[in-house]
Amino acid sequence: MKVASHQLRCTGCAAVIPPEAAAADFRCAVCGGLYDVIYPWSSIAVRNPTPRSRATTPGNMIPDTNLPNASALRWLWQERRTSTMAVDQSGVWRFRDLLPILDNPENPVTLREGNTPLYDLPRSAKALGIDFLLAKHQGIGNPTGSFKDTGMTAALSVAAERGFDWVACASTGNTSAAMAAYAARAGLRSIVLIPEGKIAWGKLSQSMDYGAITLQLRTDFDGCVRILSELIRRLPIYLLNSVNPYRAEGQKTPAFELVEQLEGQVPEHVIVPGGNLANGAALGKGFREMCDLGLIPRVPRISVVQAQGANPLFRSMQENDGAHVTPVIADTRASAIRIGNPASFRKAVATIHSTGGWCEQASEQEIALSKAEIGAEGIGCEPASAATLAGLKKLVANGRITPEERVVLILTGHTLKDPEYTIAYHRGNLLREDELAPATLAQLSLHQTLRKPPTVLDADTDTVLRTIDAAIQTTPIHA
Ligand code: F0G
Repeated sequence: MKVASHQLRCTGCAAVIPPEAAAADFRCAVCGGLYDVIYPWSSIAVRNPTPRSRATTPGNMIPDTNLPNASALRWLWQERRTSTMAVDQSGVWRFRDLLPILDNPENPVTLREGNTPLYDLPRSAKALGIDFLLAKHQGIGNPTGSFKDTGMTAALSVAAERGFDWVACASTGNTSAAMAAYAARAGLRSIVLIPEGKIAWGKLSQSMDYGAITLQLRTDFDGCVRILSELIRRLPIYLLNSVNPYRAEGQKTPAFELVEQLEGQVPEHVIVPGGNLANGAALGKGFREMCDLGLIPRVPRISVVQAQGANPLFRSMQENDGAHVTPVIADTRASAIRIGNPASFRKAVATIHSTGGWCEQASEQEIALSKAEIGAEGIGCEPASAATLAGLKKLVANGRITPEERVVLILTGHTLKDPEYTIAYHRGNLLREDELAPATLAQLSLHQTLRKPPTVLDADTDTVLRTIDAAIQTTPIHA
């Protein structure tokens, strides 16, 4: 199924440029805004050409003639599931008809990413009093253990096709792990800038394992971004942060997968953790394109949850309904989302507004409790991912989500990304007293039930039996 290729449209001023005209920092030359990839079938291309963009109008991309047909797409995507070709087995490139960003779409840089499981969370649903709670776990199935792989296969394939030798990113750890892996796979060199001492060990080990030049800068994530912006002006390196619009093209595909997994149904609500704020917008783009093509009848609400210590979007939504953002000095143990000046702020606001979603924040105590609850369901996730459940509790409590609404949490990273956090939690030395002080009695009792500290014993059978017995007495079934 051959479709016309793509263009880039500025999300700020709507200027449209051909892909090869993008600057190295992927910022619009007119207004500094970020780009979206648009296709002939994008609703923005078909219905909304603005006067400014008319010169190179997306409307010129022959909107109707190349429109992929919904039933043909459904059939093709199913067929590819049984193929043995890597490009078909990839949970991103299986949907390549809706991301025609490569000249040679049959040969991307792939590690068979995507194809991530959808789990139900019955105990969390029951505790919340809602009927239907699912978790799409992007940390399981993806080769480096986070949702970043879906975006990285797309953007790194573009880098390889355009002949770059070097790629680079600033990261809180997962983007760098994914970039290093895909770069190694493609035979490209990669440079990782990470904040020293502020990323989880699992992630740091990955970028070394995959052979990246790993630079730990004595600053935070936002400081790493500043240095990277300087580097790309001086060196011929391809930028792989989420300002790269091709990242979103891969990161929109879990929306396609999710609808397939729900046999064509659309949940009422999708909740993502928010850091640099690209992911919610990418998923929103995926749902929107499916809607434009007649694959689904409507787009779910998309809500974003931030850590209270790294909450510029939350503050902005409260104070000025997303009109502008004031950067914060970010501080949270959910290190993946420790970001004070999010690059995709505007895209996230647009997604929340257009889908009718919300932004919530969660404290360190609330994130830790939610992570333990997800762990106790036998699933587990990294701390940032657990912010989704913490935010959902608030959305239910304030009546924004009603019991019959179907909710999907996007769990973004594997629990083994940050084992230090989990061990500290269960040993009881993660949270400070002042962080626990605002907790309700119910929350404190749940912490008590869920904490399972390891016990060191002599190698003596009677001692072991006595300890197991004591544990059985104090552990309720299914706690
Ligand atoms: N969850 C995890 C596990 C992440 O690694 C990130 C972002 C997010 C959520 C937030 O997604 O930035 O699109 O809002 N990690 C980036 C990184 C910043 O460098 O790995 P976002």
